[in-house]
Parts: sequence; structure tokens; C-alpha cells
Amino acid sequence: MSAIVVVGAQWGDEGKGKVTDVIGQDVDWVVKFNGGNNAGHTVVVDGQKFALHLIPAGIISQQATCVIGNGVVVDPKVLFEEIDELKAANINCDHLKVSGQAHMILSYNKIADGLAERVLGEGKIGTTGRGIGPTYADKMNRVGLRINYLRHPDLLKEKIETIVAQKNVIFRALGVEELSAKKVYEEAMSYAPRLLPMIIDSAPMLNEALRLGQHMLFEAGQATMLDIDHGTYPYVTSSSCTAGGACTGTGVGPTHIDRVIGIAKAYTTRVGEGPFPTELSGPQGDKLRELGGEYGVTTGRPRRTGWFDAVVAAYAVDINGLTDLAITKLDVLDDYDEIPVCTGYKLPDGQVMTTMPSDQVDFAQAEPIYTMHPGWKCDISKARTFDDLPKAAQDYIHALEDYSRCRISVIGVGPGREETIVRNDLLAKQ
Ligand code: IMP
Ligand code: MG
Repeated sequence: MSAIVVVGAQWGDEGKGKVTDVIGQDVDWVVKFNGGNNAGHTVVVDGQKFALHLIPAGIISQQATCVIGNGVVVDPKVLFEEIDELKAANINCDHLKVSGQAHMILSYNKIADGLAERVLGEGKIGTTGRGIGPTYADKMNRVGLRINYLRHPDLLKEKIETIVAQKNVIFRALGVEELSAKKVYEEAMSYAPRLLPMIIDSAPMLNEALRLGQHMLFEAGQATMLDIDHGTYPYVTSSSCTAGGACTGTGVGPTHIDRVIGIAKAYTTRVGEGPFPTELSGPQGDKLRELGGEYGVTTGRPRRTGWFDAVVAAYAVDINGLTDLAITKLDVLDDYDEIPVCTGYKLPDGQVMTTMPSDQVDFAQAEPIYTMHPGWKCDISKARTFDDLPKAAQDYIHALEDYSRCRISVIGVGPGREETIVRNDLLAKQ
């Protein structure tokens, strides 16, 4: 038996989709445990590019049963659109299942997302505007709409009346058109015919599969630094993106998890607002953005770019209990003479920290301290083994292993499934 968790080790968009797609070819189940259609996975197979937001990237491999776990928030409209798109590309989605305990995003929570940002003004989070935060807030506030409610129309109606009354207090105050409980109910029920057959009782099913010795991959949305507890609060998403979320978001206990793989880019990107110590401004940042093609899959926003932050990486290793790191997009650094890596922060009072400050006021003021590494100045996209890499690239990888205190088991040298160096078998038991 082998249960593997894959998480983002930075601020998202590390290339989890590619790694889960590669592992997804050899597992029986791929389970998404947090987030919603705020994610954006790009997977390239045989030159064909797929942009997924809600559906686990594992769907592409067609080998595994894909499950949207209870910890996810589901916009049914987006779910159906993605299924239709995949079907048009001959990718079968019959093996996609949804936990009835997951919460639904309806249109009122997308409106609420925009309003929350408007109220924050200058202090806005820079959300994806997909209704994620308000849907999780309703869940925690115990007024959310579980998909299972679609089975009980009278109960659903009652729940909608409660939530609509609450939302309307705010909508009225902000001068926004008030919601009609009837319309919200109709919206929700319009999804029932297609959604009900996809519902499963996911936790018992997954636990039974583990008992049978099947292989399972838990796929995180977003990343460690966007985690509601461990990220750069309040500039975070509203879910548990770290390894612990794999348990709460699926109902599989921590003793079943054999391995936790963190994905990090060979540099760093971030979308949305919030602190980012190694961010490059001006032409340097633009150069890295162009080389890496760093534009959001979900929103098309240009991503902020910067150097690899080893303090962040070591923090992600701790928070997630990472057993392995995968470093993606190493080829993007092919052109640089020298590659800086952040190995510590200097705070305004002169204090130097080599671990993550827990106080976000400190983190926002942290100045990166860089260690320079020589570049390799050649095309590495054809490398298929570690030995194929030039020595300077090997040294860069070894340095990242030392700084982060974690072995690097996978190295991405290009976007394709085959442009990957695997140093340690990810499915082998530890
Ligand atoms: P939300 O998840 O839409 O509420 O957005 C909260 C923050 O998380 C914003 O800074 C978003 O840009 C960021 N975010 C959400 N999902 C992703 C993702 O998949 N990749 C990168 N950033 C994300
Ligand atoms: Mg993404």
C-alpha cells in the first residue's frame, strides 16, 4: 500500500499538475482535498495542452479514479464545463467522483468574493474572484451548502433561506442587488441531475481501497505559503493546502500517509497581493516571467517572479513533513551567469533569521540574504538522468537539498511529461 500527498512548497503554480500527472499513471486513486477552481493546472501530454481548474490533474492519465474530496469547494457549473471540455478532447470523465460532503459554490458567493475585496480596498487579497473564501467562510460558519443537500430539496430550501437572509443584510448595506432565495434554490437544483450520480461517500470508500492495498495520490490545490494557518496570512487562500489538509479533506488518517512530496520551482512566483521577499522588480522580474511563461492559468494575471527562497523551502519541508522535493522548471534558469538563492532574511532591526518568521509583520519587512551559485549556460531540456545535467546544475540541486534539508527526487527540465528526471522512485515504500 502506498498513499502519497503532493503539495505546493511555495505560493502555488509550482507544477503540481505535471508531477501528479506523472505519478497518476501508476496509482489507483487521485484525490483532491482542498481548494476549488481557484487552482490552475497545466498538463501537456503529447504536445496537447490541458488547463484544469477544479478537476484533479490525475484525470488525464485515465488510469485512476479521481475524487473531489470533502475538503474541496465545488462550483458545479465549472465542474460540468471542465468535464465537457475534457470529453471533447476524448478524455473520459466517468471515473470522476465527488464527495457529498464537499460544499457548493453558487453565484452568490462569487458576488460576495468581489464585495469582500471591494471592502478591503487597498488591503485587498487579490483573490481569484471564484467565490472560494466566502464559501469556506460559510462552511466554517455552519451555513454552507453541502452537495448532499441536493438529495433533500426541502432541507436545501431551508438552508438557502437562512444563507440568503444573512447575505442580504450585507448586500443591502453595500447597495448591491438583493438575492432571491427562490432563484438561488433554482440554481442549486439545476445542478442536481448531473451532480447526484457523481456523489460518493468518499471517506469509507478511500479507506476500504487502502485496506485493499491500492495506491492513492492526494493532490493539493494552492500551496504551503497560501495555507490558511501556515501561509502569509491574511494574504492566503481559505483552505488547508498543507499535508494535514489531506487528512481533514478526505477522511483518511495520517498513519496511512507514506510519503509527502513538495513541489517547488527552481525560482519563485506568486500571484495576488502579499509579501514576497525574493521578488524581482523591473526588467529582471520581466525577464524571468518571460523565460518561465509566468502567467496565471486561471486568471491570466502576470505572476510576480523572484529567486528561489531556501528559507521558504525549509519551512515547507517542516510544515508538511516532506519526504521528497520535486524541483520544476530548472531549464528556465539555463541562461543565467549566476543564480542567487535566498538563505536568510535581514530584519529592519538588523537581526538575521535563517528560519521563517512567524510574525507576518517581520516577514513583510524581511530583506533577502543571497548566496550566489554559478549558472550552467546551456540547454538542459534533453537531460533524462541526473548525470546528464551539467555539473553547475547538479551543484545547484545539491545546494537546494542542503538548504532545505530534503532530498530532491524529481527535477523538471521542460513542460512535457517526458521532460522529467526521476532520481528516486516515488511509489516505492519508504
Ligand atoms: P482565493 O483562493 O481566490 O481566495 O485567492 C487568495 C490568494 O490565493 C490570492 O493571492 C490568489 O492569487 C492565490 N491563489 C489562489 N489559488 C491559487 C493557485 O492555484 N495558484 C496560485 N495562487 C493562487
Ligand atoms: Mg496554478
